[in-house]
Amino acid sequence: MTVAISATGLWTPTDSVTNAELVASYNAYVERYNAEHAEEIAAGARPALLPSSVEFIEKASGIKHRYMLDKAGSLDVSRMVPRIPERPNSELSLMAEASVNAARQALESAGRDPGDIGAVICSCSSLQRPYPALAIEVQNELGAGGFGYDMNVACSSATFAIQNAHDIVKAGHARSALVVNPELTTGHLNFRDRETHFIFGDAAVAILVERADVAPPGAWAILGTKLKTQFSNNIRNNFGFLNRADEAHRDDPDKLITQQGRKVFREVVPLVSEMILQHMAELELKPSDMRRLWLHQANSNMNRLIAERVLGHEASQDEAPTVLDVYGNTAGAGSIIAFHSHRADLKTGDKGLICSFGAGYSAGSIFVQKAA
Ligand code: COA
Repeated sequence: MTVAISATGLWTPTDSVTNAELVASYNAYVERYNAEHAEEIAAGARPALLPSSVEFIEKASGIKHRYMLDKAGSLDVSRMVPRIPERPNSELSLMAEASVNAARQALESAGRDPGDIGAVICSCSSLQRPYPALAIEVQNELGAGGFGYDMNVACSSATFAIQNAHDIVKAGHARSALVVNPELTTGHLNFRDRETHFIFGDAAVAILVERADVAPPGAWAILGTKLKTQFSNNIRNNFGFLNRADEAHRDDPDKLITQQGRKVFREVVPLVSEMILQHMAELELKPSDMRRLWLHQANSNMNRLIAERVLGHEASQDEAPTVLDVYGNTAGAGSIIAFHSHRADLKTGDKGLICSFGAGYSAGSIFVQKAA
């Protein structure tokens, strides 16, 4: 039985932030910090902080802009954390709300009734709470049936969940499965860290995975899925429920995302390129069969190298579109935003690849073909 991606949905917050705005906030923080610690810095007892720069960010990453849940709180130098008031248990939680917004769009574009859904997976790089599962809250809010559960595979959360949804449908546990990937990344971003302050943006995506025989015209048949993991400490977030048991380290910077970007770049490019090429060989796909690559959106230079290794030539924007210039790195949502935004022009029979990679390390590849 063939399983297909019937539709996708995308929700983005309305707060829009350019690199110049982000850098102005960071550099104001640096000035304030260095003035406050001027004596220690002059005595060599404390290193001065260095400023960030728009030129560096654009050249090193390709990111020019991102959307955020709360620009004011995130850029306020005395705070540098989004201001997100806690909601009572009687209200829909924020991550469930973002997911439902994306999900409703996907359901509408597939002409699908929520009652047709037999499984909901909420998969993202940082879950708002351990339980009850956000997926069950989303299931309830939509009026979907079946079951729901949460999972977390960092930036590969969406592709890993697509494989789960594919397998659920293929095994006959549900006819339609909904994946939601709410990436409220600014909540776990350190706006005081020069190495990472510019990387992330907020967004939520939804992917409807169904039996191909019930999917709407123009759905995307899933030709194959492949997942790979390889342990690395180079991207880490140590936030968790055990933090409260050690007050001395509870609020250390490692309780937000930290990464060794250069090492990640060097190690992930070969890991991902080789995985894609191996998966293509298994599916008997040639580079010339690939109409488009919807790659994870962390770094445009990484994507250029990966696409070149996969296609055998430098990829055009048409072959491997970029969305991180507008959205920043939206963790698991990046490759899905690329797929959502850049597939309408493809024709029946065209084949493409959705591919994610990130912390873990983790990587997922999903080959798809547009149906009639
Ligand atoms: N502004 C100005 N300069 C900066 C800076 C900033 N915000 N951040 C770092 N620099 C400086 C560094 O101090 C260093 O200076 P030096 O050469 O004098 O020592 C120089 O720029 C290069 O720093 P480096 O960290 O090696 O940059 P890079 O070219 O590797 O780019 C990333 C950094 C994070 C953009 C890049 O490594 C990356 O995207 N890696 C992949 C990350 C990834 O995929 N993560 C997965 C998450 S889903």
